[in-house]
Amino acid sequence: MSYVYDAIVVGGGVIGGAIAYNLAKRGGKVLLLEKERLASKASGAAAGMLGAQAEMDGEGSLFQLARKSRAMFTQLAGEIKETSGIDIELINKGMLKVALNEQQQHEYKRVIAIQRQSGEQADWMTGEEVRRKEPVLSDAITGAMHLEKDGQVEATQLTLGFLKSAVARGVVIKEFVEVYYFQLSKGKVSGVVTNEGNFYSENVIVAGGAWSKKLLSKTGLQLDTYPVKGECFSVVSHSQILTTTVFSHGCYLVPKKWGRIIVGATVKPRTFCKKVTVEGISILMEQAKKLMPSIVEAEWERAWAGIRPQTADGLPYLGEHPIYKGLFIATGHFRNGILLSPITGEVIADLVEGKPTSLNLEPFRVDRLVRQLT
Ligand code: FAD
Ligand code: GLY
Repeated sequence: MSYVYDAIVVGGGVIGGAIAYNLAKRGGKVLLLEKERLASKASGAAAGMLGAQAEMDGEGSLFQLARKSRAMFTQLAGEIKETSGIDIELINKGMLKVALNEQQQHEYKRVIAIQRQSGEQADWMTGEEVRRKEPVLSDAITGAMHLEKDGQVEATQLTLGFLKSAVARGVVIKEFVEVYYFQLSKGKVSGVVTNEGNFYSENVIVAGGAWSKKLLSKTGLQLDTYPVKGECFSVVSHSQILTTTVFSHGCYLVPKKWGRIIVGATVKPRTFCKKVTVEGISILMEQAKKLMPSIVEAEWERAWAGIRPQTADGLPYLGEHPIYKGLFIATGHFRNGILLSPITGEVIADLVEGKPTSLNLEPFRVDRLVRQLT
């Protein structure tokens, strides 16, 4: 028999990394398997926004999950730095969710009222106030939600930070090992079958992003998920400085260290193709120019694409397989996997340990969509 572990995590993205890190912190002997390179998929493509308020309205279970996760970043940044030496580049300079017309203005003011009722800070800024704060922004912006607590991180650094910290706590990571199937019998999982042989554990966690559906279909579970491609590009602006993340309908500008700005992202459902298209980048460029006209003077850096895992009802799957005990699933984080990674790591580690979770996971049950149909 091959080596036996307390848990095996499938997937070396931010979600698999967060889970392995949390399990290791609790003393588990963990193996993480990644079919390609670590952080090579969605987690390495993300802009790193922690948009609990910018990307959600302020009601529902996803919002509760997101605000809890966002609040974990300050402590996490310190822990990762101390354990691995990696700086996740947490920036807490807030976000401006900008309106370009009256309809958006009306909608965002409604969202501000809802978010304030939930106890969150959210303020309306006029176009003039926005430009006073960020002089490089254009006159086309008629106002904005100012969201002080929506920060950002460097997504690849966060992913590698989780993984390197996990290794420092004893996790074994194997790249280029693909999980083909699970060892299943009598309603339980006992390991995985891979291109490098079998590995054994009574706990297996599938964190395979957009590829989780295919793997789990072999267990008789049809997750209602689909891939959504996102293209981005980055530039370096030597003179025109933007400090706050700007989020608008169809385009965002995320200022990073050294004048670098990430411009994202397209949303192309139902494709695993990672080609960056001229069409995608031209649309983003037009929108970026509308927000920040002087971006035309910035120096081109690069363009890339990633595949987001989306679910039919927009909520991630966080829970145990409905048939096989010990087989856990954490996927479907769509546009917010970076933001949701700390809380996902914590609650999945709770489930594996059989402990009560810090929040109700009922809305995220793996069999929820199946049950609705029956
Ligand atoms: P992935 O990062 O895709 O990782 C899954 C891993 O599992 C992959 O490395 C894959 O190779 C591996 N794998 C799959 N099957 C197997 C198998 N059978 N055996 C072994 N390994 C396997 N989120 C935010 O919160 N903020 C943002 O600003 C943000 N911006 C984004 C911008 C873009 C352009 C994109 C594409 C996404 C963005 N996201 C953002 C979303 C975020 O990136 C995803 O939700 C998150 O990365 C999903 O993480 P994951 O670990 O589930 O998936
Ligand atoms: N959350 C940003 C994106 O998915 O593009």
